Amino acid sequence: MITPVRVLSSGGPMRVELARWRGKLVVVKQLQGSSPALANRLGREAAVVTHLEHEHIVPLLAVQDTSLIYAYCPGVNLSEALQEGPIGVANSLRFVRDVLSALTYAHAHDVIHLDIKPSNILINGEKALLTDFGFAKDLALAAITQQGMSLGTPNYMAPEQFSGERRDPRSDLYAVGAVLYHMLTGAPPYERDIFRFLTGDRSVRLGPLPEAVAPLQVFISTALEYEPEARFASAAEMHGALSSIYIDDLFF
Ligand SMILES: Nc1ncnc2c1ncn2[C@@H]1O[C@H](COP(=O)(O)OP(=O)(O)O)[C@@H](O)[C@H]1O
Ligand SMILES: [Mg+2]
Repeated sequence: MITPVRVLSSGGPMRVELARWRGKLVVVKQLQGSSPALANRLGREAAVVTHLEHEHIVPLLAVQDTSLIYAYCPGVNLSEALQEGPIGVANSLRFVRDVLSALTYAHAHDVIHLDIKPSNILINGEKALLTDFGFAKDLALAAITQQGMSLGTPNYMAPEQFSGERRDPRSDLYAVGAVLYHMLTGAPPYERDIFRFLTGDRSVRLGPLPEAVAPLQVFISTALEYEPEARFASAAEMHGALSSIYIDDLFF
């Protein structure tokens, strides 16, 4: 039996609740209302996440009727954390490395997340966990329809994904770059000019990083390249590139 404790999020098509189940706190995700497209989305999320087991991916514990039961990750989501302003560089880099290791694993299992954004990254102390595979593409589950899906948040969305392309793991790498940019500067890339960038206006310029994190400029620019071919080739390569960057501040 699931005993509700409190609602965590109900703004979108899903209702996400903290609850008690089998003597522990869990998070229950279910549909609000009924539509075949949404039921499909929840079904896809279950089908995708059930195969994933990684220390930086929130584990799915069970599927009951139309509810997904996840392990509870105490803390805040990254979107909430960003409401206080930019995140310190050490934590920013740690969280990005966590997400990249989750993506290295997911991509190796043919799963592309396609909705990497701050509210889908949960912060538990010094550790980040990726969740919400509701828009994910499992290249092995080709039969699942993509009809009726809304697009994710454009602030973190790669241009090719904005144009409807959903087969490229490098779309996730763009989103990680956008999230890192937000953590370091306090705002997502391009802000109000995002649609101009996404629709191919190459005159839009990315605002500079704060002086203290200037050594990350090339890394961020590479992650946020318009063309996927110009980005890092894989999450593992991006993780490696980040580990090789020396930032003074981190050693004080
Ligand atoms: N396992 C969890 N532990 C703690 N909080 C969670 C968990 N899963 C989701 N949440 C909270 O609920 C919010 C919405 O969950 P999410 O899975 O992203 O659903 P949606 O499809 O509505 O975006 C998250 O941004 C986070 O704040
Ligand atoms: Mg979400």
